[in-house]
Amino acid sequence: MYSPAATRYNSPEFYRRCGCSGIRLPLISLGLWHNFGGKDSYDNARAIACRAFDHGITHFDLANNYGPPDGSAEETFGRILREDLGKSRDELIISTKAGYLMWPGPYGEWGSRKYLLASLDQSLRRMGLDYVDIFYSHRPDPDTPLEETMGAVAHAVHVGKALYAGISNYPPAETVRAAKLLRDMGAPCLIHQPHYNMFDRWVEPQLLDTLAQEGIGCIVFSPLAKGLLTDRYFKGVPADSRASRDPRFLRPADITDAVLAKTKKLHDLAQSRGQTLAQMALAWVLRHRAVTSALIGASKVSQVDDCVGAARNLKFSDAELGQIEKILAE
Ligand SMILES: NC(=O)c1ccc[n+]([C@@H]2O[C@H](COP(=O)([O-])OP(=O)(O)OC[C@H]3O[C@@H](n4cnc5c(N)ncnc54)[C@H](OP(=O)(O)O)[C@@H]3O)[C@@H](O)[C@H]2O)c1
Repeated sequence: MYSPAATRYNSPEFYRRCGCSGIRLPLISLGLWHNFGGKDSYDNARAIACRAFDHGITHFDLANNYGPPDGSAEETFGRILREDLGKSRDELIISTKAGYLMWPGPYGEWGSRKYLLASLDQSLRRMGLDYVDIFYSHRPDPDTPLEETMGAVAHAVHVGKALYAGISNYPPAETVRAAKLLRDMGAPCLIHQPHYNMFDRWVEPQLLDTLAQEGIGCIVFSPLAKGLLTDRYFKGVPADSRASRDPRFLRPADITDAVLAKTKKLHDLAQSRGQTLAQMALAWVLRHRAVTSALIGASKVSQVDDCVGAARNLKFSDAELGQIEKILAE
């Protein structure tokens, strides 16, 4: 029987307010995109989720299509809730999303009301939940009126199937429009989920300022560049790594000598700060106050332990930031 660590809320500074809402999120949140699917070890998935909660990670992020197969991460998490974490439901922020291809035919992806609301019902069934805390439109749909997509998300909030509305992968202009629609519909946008890490900085020129102005929180996904911003690939491609096990989004060919040259220099800098490379990469995204939480993935309990340690040192000197810029520009 799992019993949560009594120490899990010992660090109040581990939580940051999400935009101008009443919700505080942990600096590190856990995503279930990989390693929680039907083909993965249930015991390992359970151990990762429970260890995360022991560290005070209260936020677990899912989507309809996480697996593989699609939907199986929600089923795995449903079992973890049933057997272990469910008794702490009121301590958890659980999110899910709809937007990418989930079932065949014209109503199985993108941003229609038909798809979003059917998908949310399916997600709730898979997880055995009455409601999720956050329901996201997973991506903007160029062919569906934003009014319809946001109307569906707001409806989910109004009928109590979601407590808060979220958007993911929306560029700044669409974010402003979506935020206004959601506000007008009485379901203000709690949070935006964009990708952001040292190698992928598209949020910096505008989106972070937009979110701060709108009072919307920001949870950044793939802050470790799917594992590249760690020591995972320093000695080749391990058989149990993402690039080896599930190369759909991170191929061995992406791990080039040029990438490794940069990450090894970043690793040396991290060591001089008393951190692992993963910890420094997480601290680096969290240096922006507009970033509420860094949304990591993990294949091992030890990775969760390591990542949580990032919170011990979030400060960078100007010299360190300059060194990072120099390494990234090389
Ligand atoms: N909204 C969207 O469109 C979208 C898209 C993608 C992801 N997401 C969300 O973001 C979450 C995180 O994405 P991600 O998994 O790509 O994030 P990530 O944190 O950039 O990468 C996670 C991977 O890094 C490695 N890792 C983690 N901690 C480590 C450590 N301390 N030392 C060494 N290696 C470490 C592990 O790789 P190995 O598996 O190789 O061990 C792990 O699977 C997803 O689960 C999902 O919830 C959202």
